[in-house]
Amino acid sequence: MSRLIAPSVLSADFGNLQKDIEMINGSNADWFHVDVMDGVFVPNISFGFPVLKSLQKHAQKPLDVHLMIVQPERYIQEFKDCGAHVLTVHYEACTHLHRTLQAIRIAGMKAGVALNPHTPVHVLEDVLNDLDLALVMSVNPGFGGQKFIERSIQKVQALAQMRKDAGSTFLIEVDGGVSDANANQLFEAGADVLVAGNYVFGHANPMAAIDAIKK
Ligand code: DX5
Ligand code: ZN
Repeated sequence: MSRLIAPSVLSADFGNLQKDIEMINGSNADWFHVDVMDGVFVPNISFGFPVLKSLQKHAQKPLDVHLMIVQPERYIQEFKDCGAHVLTVHYEACTHLHRTLQAIRIAGMKAGVALNPHTPVHVLEDVLNDLDLALVMSVNPGFGGQKFIERSIQKVQALAQMRKDAGSTFLIEVDGGVSDANANQLFEAGADVLVAGNYVFGHANPMAAIDAIKK
């Protein structure tokens, strides 16, 4: 059972991105969480390939790319070329989820599936051995700094049980409203990776904030 932390670049200072990248490089964080939004799947637009290329150049830890876009299968190779280590698509955005997960693996990345707060975990039952990561959204996707949805803890527990029953090894990630107030509970429930944006970058000491949720 791992306890990985992935600070969300969405809350970084885009006027001085390199400084925040270097903070993460020098911290005890494990991955960079990178939120790509298209203004269609979610009511917000974040950033695209040029920003990812800059991240790729400076980041010394794996890029955990979370696609909040429709038809994510159209861009798999482009995200591979931008250095994505994990590529996560939304269950709600994929008509042919199994095919998309296969394509991500064939392209040489870890395949992830994200579930919106209203999507039950059992929809993953038939792809448990086709994914490397399952992401439980603990806020509605689109924005940083939202309030954690408590029900997410039960979803993590249920997913951990499904994983155990199936003998699968995928990682469970939680994204949205994560802080020192819920991190430990989430890890105990079975989460392996916690994403944190506002809690880390809104903290007076971001490195200490990373340590606080990792412990
Ligand atoms: C929300 C994004 C999150 C976001 C988390 O749609 O997927 O990764 O950056 O931010 P916080 O930790 O501030 O809720
Ligand atoms: Zn995210």
